[in-house]
Amino acid sequence: MLKAVILIGGPLKGTRFRPLSLDIPKPLFPVAGLPMIQHHIEACVKIPNLKEILVLGYYPASELAQFVTDMVNEYKVNIRYLQEFTALGTAGGLYHFRDQIRSGNPEAFFVLNGDVCADFPLVEMLDFHKEKKGSSLVTIMTTEATRQQSMHYGCIVQDRDTSEVTHYVEKPSTFVSTLINCGVYICSIEIFQTFAAVFNMRQQEYYNDAGGNGNGKEAAVIYLETDVLMPLAGTGCVFALQTSNWWSQLKTAGSAIYANRHYLALYHSWHTDRLARGDLTAEEGKEKSCNIIGDVYIHPTATVHNTATLGPNVSIEAGAVIGPGVRVRESIVLSGAIVSDHSLVLHSIVGRGSHVGQWARVEGTPCDPNPNKPFAKMENPSLFNSDGRLNPSITILGCNVTVPSEVILLNSIVLPHKELTRSFKNEIIL
Ligand code: GDD
Ligand code: GTP
Repeated sequence: MLKAVILIGGPLKGTRFRPLSLDIPKPLFPVAGLPMIQHHIEACVKIPNLKEILVLGYYPASELAQFVTDMVNEYKVNIRYLQEFTALGTAGGLYHFRDQIRSGNPEAFFVLNGDVCADFPLVEMLDFHKEKKGSSLVTIMTTEATRQQSMHYGCIVQDRDTSEVTHYVEKPSTFVSTLINCGVYICSIEIFQTFAAVFNMRQQEYYNDAGGNGNGKEAAVIYLETDVLMPLAGTGCVFALQTSNWWSQLKTAGSAIYANRHYLALYHSWHTDRLARGDLTAEEGKEKSCNIIGDVYIHPTATVHNTATLGPNVSIEAGAVIGPGVRVRESIVLSGAIVSDHSLVLHSIVGRGSHVGQWARVEGTPCDPNPNKPFAKMENPSLFNSDGRLNPSITILGCNVTVPSEVILLNSIVLPHKELTRSFKNEIIL
């Protein structure tokens, strides 16, 4: 029997995702029509003999409750949210909830970072891990990155013949390897002995340092990368499976547009019903839909005028209204948003309940991986560059923003509940 744990962090994480994470926990932000971590759940439920999915984080349980209920109803699998009392790190929560994870005697469990997106090769990982049975405590999913970008990730040095991880460094300051940690693992149940050893050592340090600057809570914080993988590398019990499948981090709003495109493309192979079709005729019993170019997701409750043109790579969420003559490309329009007649939305995210007036133009700069560099990943820059200037980014409207008619909004980020009165370019509008 197998289980899976999805690490979602809490309100203090995902800051680069603001303002979109201000009104919804980042792991629930919809990408290609599904909350971000529902894609993880869909990958997990395809694994034979997977009996339970535990979502682990320090968001208040009330913020995840509805989602968990929806998931249980949809996939008929046990899914629970476990709330850490404080941020326990990427392995502290696994150790804290060890009894929940071990109950039912799973032989192994997957651990998935909630802030990555991928065509997850979980079944392949399982087969690989089983092959190493007895020797592998952890199998890490790894992929190739560019030399320069690799240093923003966990870096893996691997024995090419045995796939053993001989050396692991978390976000090194100088180049180590172009093989990076994808934040997706399968762990044997014996890994808890290693967690326990780290935990006990921490406790000891804390009591030896009584009156020092620790506060007791820190003793429970364990990082999978630095406290577990780094010391275990080279001891013959960590392996890595390299994949060439699509994979990316989902740190910035710009990467949500990128992830949206790839998840939509994946629907071609197993969920074509989620892709909107522009070729429906009255004979097929449906009204003719709008003009669709490439991959588009339209929630069944959204209203799209038949003279609007959507795509490629567009998601229109629940209850959104797209008016006549509107053009949307490479964008996500969130629930309840209204895009009025003849407006254009390009490389942007229109927040929940926002309203774009008529003949307006909302446009951002795409931030895709460099197509000229093999293995390049998303850059995930912070909002400002080192001179304090705004980095070019997609345009983001927070929730309930009003963009008046006939204005242009270019490379800007608008915080929630703002009523704009004019055009803006390269600005953060507070
Ligand atoms: N439950 C819980 N509690 N989850 C946490 C906590 C915590 O205290 N801290 C972080 N997480 C979750 C985050 O929500 C995220 O999904 C994941 O764990 C990774 O956390 P980060 O701390 O943001 O690490 P990172 O994304 O910069 O780097 C990690 O992922 C990279 C791949 O995306 C590392 O594992 C790198 O080695 C790896 O390359
Ligand atoms: P807030 O910070 O939210 O108040 O707005 P803002 O700084 O973004 O200013 P905005 O772009 O809305 O307007 C710029 C300036 O023009 C402000 O000083 C407003 O008071 C003024 N303004 C805005 N709309 C009108 C208007 O319809 N008539 C007049 N006379 N002034 C206006």
